[in-house]
Amino acid sequence: MNTLKRSFYVMTLVGFALLSIQCKNEKKADTNIITVEEMKNLVTITKESFGTTSDSIPVDKFILKNEKGMEISVITYGGIITSWTAPDKNGEYKDIVLGFDSIQKYQMPGVPYFGALIGRFGNRIANAKFSLDGTEYTLAANDGKNHLHGGVKGFDKVVWTASEVLTDSTASLVLTYLSKDMEEGYPGNLETKVTYTLNNDNNLDVVYEATTDKKTVVNLTQHSYFNLSGDFSKPILDHEVTINADKLVPVDATLIPTGQLTDVTNTPFDFRQAKTIGKDIDVKDEQLKRGGGYDHCWALNNQNEGMRLAATAYHPESGRVMEVLTDEPGIQLYTGNFLDGTLPSKQGGTYAHRTGFCLETQHYPDSPNQKDFPSVILSPGENYISKTSFKFSVK
Ligand code: GLA
Repeated sequence: MNTLKRSFYVMTLVGFALLSIQCKNEKKADTNIITVEEMKNLVTITKESFGTTSDSIPVDKFILKNEKGMEISVITYGGIITSWTAPDKNGEYKDIVLGFDSIQKYQMPGVPYFGALIGRFGNRIANAKFSLDGTEYTLAANDGKNHLHGGVKGFDKVVWTASEVLTDSTASLVLTYLSKDMEEGYPGNLETKVTYTLNNDNNLDVVYEATTDKKTVVNLTQHSYFNLSGDFSKPILDHEVTINADKLVPVDATLIPTGQLTDVTNTPFDFRQAKTIGKDIDVKDEQLKRGGGYDHCWALNNQNEGMRLAATAYHPESGRVMEVLTDEPGIQLYTGNFLDGTLPSKQGGTYAHRTGFCLETQHYPDSPNQKDFPSVILSPGENYISKTSFKFSVK
């Protein structure tokens, strides 16, 4: 072999050796590279700015995403769920909650609690007053002469502190808020914590916790307006709903409970078998007239069982199903009767009459003044804990 031939041979060998080392390294690096396909299959939480409130407080938006692709956006203002995607029977994910695209819109006067956390007391308190141990407390009369959803500046209008907790299979957002003694007229410093947890079964758990340093009343809930069609220009009257309740909490003309519980049998309030929201909503009925449609609390069955199925909503056209499980005694079905086409939809256009419905798990309205209703009193040393799950599937 002459010198030229030999050096060509050696160089080729070295070349092969280098190539094989490089390939090996690439293979090794490969295990750390996540493909786009794999990215889709991760549980993630991302954070971005959602602007600032009118009094210059920064608001963050957190997007919780599971490996199926469900995405829930929550802002620190009001703990509001601004969007929530769910798949239809063809696997197409669409936003299924009403809301806005900017903090300015959420701060417009008269926004009806879209997607928000409600506290310190969800629903109404008669004459905006209640007594504890002989002391009378006066609250804001922000719904005629009554008190509604925590007052003028309830938990839906404050900025919460957020922290993220991520595991292999769950994405949680922990929101905390200290409601000061006598804030909105309520006694006691209330340390409040709400945890939203999205898992890979398209299930969102909402856990509400609170402690106080003075006897007070608490009734926390979530006020998302759902439209399972994903098209907010369509009324929700075609959704089939079941509510596992034999009894209703009937109300007077100002939507304050009369104090009785009435049997739903043979009334428009019987949702024990699935029926569309629209089926009876416009029948002549004094309770429906008072609510302008459904705006009532049902006394759920099996109250001693803890977490159980309270209600189901099914949208036949898309196949989307939402189950609501709770350990609360009651659930309010509100059918968007006050929506009147004045608020701007995030899909363009406006939110027309009955284009969203709420299923708000809770203790009964006006419980602080109704001695026969399950108690809403929280004392120092006690832990308030309430749990609700929203579970999505298709059929
Ligand atoms: C609740 C009430 C309704 C209405 C809405 C917000 O669910 O029960 O009467 O006030 O909130 O518009």
